[in-house]
Amino acid sequence: MRKLLVAGNWKMNGSVDEAKALSAGLLAEISDGASYDVAVFPPFVHIPAVAAQLQNSDLIWGGQNLSAQAKGAFTSEISASMLAELGCQMVLVGHSECREYGHESNQLVAEKFKQALSVGLTPILCVGETIAQREAEQTESVVWQQIQAVIELVGMESLGQGVIAYEPVWAIGTGLTATAEQAQQVHQFIRSHLSENDDIIARRMRLLYGGSCNGSNANALFSMPDVDGGLIGGASLTVEDFMAICQQADALSNGE
Ligand code: 13P
Repeated sequence: MRKLLVAGNWKMNGSVDEAKALSAGLLAEISDGASYDVAVFPPFVHIPAVAAQLQNSDLIWGGQNLSAQAKGAFTSEISASMLAELGCQMVLVGHSECREYGHESNQLVAEKFKQALSVGLTPILCVGETIAQREAEQTESVVWQQIQAVIELVGMESLGQGVIAYEPVWAIGTGLTATAEQAQQVHQFIRSHLSENDDIIARRMRLLYGGSCNGSNANALFSMPDVDGGLIGGASLTVEDFMAICQQADALSNGE
């Protein structure tokens, strides 16, 4: 059985004090040994403050991106080992905002995925189509190319050490959530394609949904057989909104 994962991508928001307050608030609400996993992805410079709050708890923290290089003259970049040193267990790779604004190609994202694994970080590979691609019925081919680039570089076994987050670009920050059925359709496509490569890994891998997920739609989304949790943006920025989603994960994990 795959454990649900609720992950908060804080993006470029808040101050150190706000990051501390948010992580302390989550810590107070989420008991150790919860039936679902929780991870937060603060801006890089807030990670030490968040780590200080969350250390010795089950809550996971991670980076929103990382360099494809191990070290060296790459001004402004943050390496996998730097994140690991701050206690990060996970890292996002290939978020659509990095693909779009940072011009990250499928190949570069695959190299970042590999870097993350090289230091034991769990990469969350973000994939998803734009509205134009959906309307042109290219959703499956776009998403599969994004995943295949990683398989070609690191192999199926290594892909299986990560998590995949399906985030339709048109649903991110727009309030336009994919319906649970739309999400399930793409998740099922991903899992069935993965199983053509390796059925055991495909069944084990967690596939998250992201894009305007909130306390009102999380139950329907997470109830879908191939949706194993969510990658949350806007609704991860307050304890109340994030907990509304976590409570749905908790109820579903406990068979309610
Ligand atoms: P929103 O939840 O704000 O739509 O953002 C989703 C996202 O991009 C998470 O990575």
